[in-house]
Amino acid sequence: MGYLERLKRILRGEARGFIPYRKARFQAYKRHILARIEATPVGREPYFHLYIDRIFPDELYRAIEKRMLYCRDHRKVRRRDQDSAVFVNRRFNLRRNIDPETRYLRNLFSDPDIKRAFLSKFYVDANQALVDAIKIHDEEFEFVYTAPGLFQNIHTDIPPKFLSMVFYIPGREVTADDADRNGTIFYDKDLVPNSKAKYLPNSVGIFAQHFHSYHGFASTVERPALVLFYVHPEVEKAWNAVKDSEGATFDEIRDQTAAKLVTYPLIEYGTDRSAIETAWAECRINAPSGRVMVDKPKMLEPAREKLAV
Ligand SMILES: [Fe+2]
Repeated sequence: MGYLERLKRILRGEARGFIPYRKARFQAYKRHILARIEATPVGREPYFHLYIDRIFPDELYRAIEKRMLYCRDHRKVRRRDQDSAVFVNRRFNLRRNIDPETRYLRNLFSDPDIKRAFLSKFYVDANQALVDAIKIHDEEFEFVYTAPGLFQNIHTDIPPKFLSMVFYIPGREVTADDADRNGTIFYDKDLVPNSKAKYLPNSVGIFAQHFHSYHGFASTVERPALVLFYVHPEVEKAWNAVKDSEGATFDEIRDQTAAKLVTYPLIEYGTDRSAIETAWAECRINAPSGRVMVDKPKMLEPAREKLAV
């Protein structure tokens, strides 16, 4: 191995014992992920979601975990304040990153077979055109390091997001209590916490944005995670045309969600437009970026009264 190649390997972190990128390993990892998707049933309450444990083979998970910790401790992490002015966490964006672990992640989740397998769990017709169009959202393909004691407002995500994925990578042992209290909370239509994706190592919580994909989380410990979103460039273009620095109006979010679901029906709503019309009317989004603003105490306890939108 020449000096230049050795230097490149050092810069990529491979010299620190992380895994190298190999096509044969990629194929093995792909088979593992496809098998895990296949074997995991979709949760239906309070809305369709997938919680997959052992999403990565151990070898790849350990390398991703190391990379996440390495980026936290040795690379420049930026503030992530898109959720709200008070909910600020740190992030390391992977858009231009060429570490082998990132290349595995990028290539695995851009693989047509893996995209189709995920989309088929949620969408009526995961046809080739949809599979080809869907891509990883650059801006939010990142490690997110959330400090303890934060609470993310209930929100639905924005319409261009076809699938939202949060991979839980604690980077240390977690107690059963921490796993329970730091997972993603799925709220029902009355904004009552209904189910949780537990914050356990090597697991992922996945759902599709729609009118009532209400979710959020609280952190009681430092909570590293990897976020990855599948977006459709055409829907993103339509979204970018209406949003401003505050996002978009609530009706615009609802309208764009409806337009998306008519063109790309979800199994959950089906192809009957009246279901979409009903969901449009019941949607509780009342703040930019698909957020539902309610008081914090009400978010933690069952919301008994209806909240005005
Ligand atoms: Fe979200």
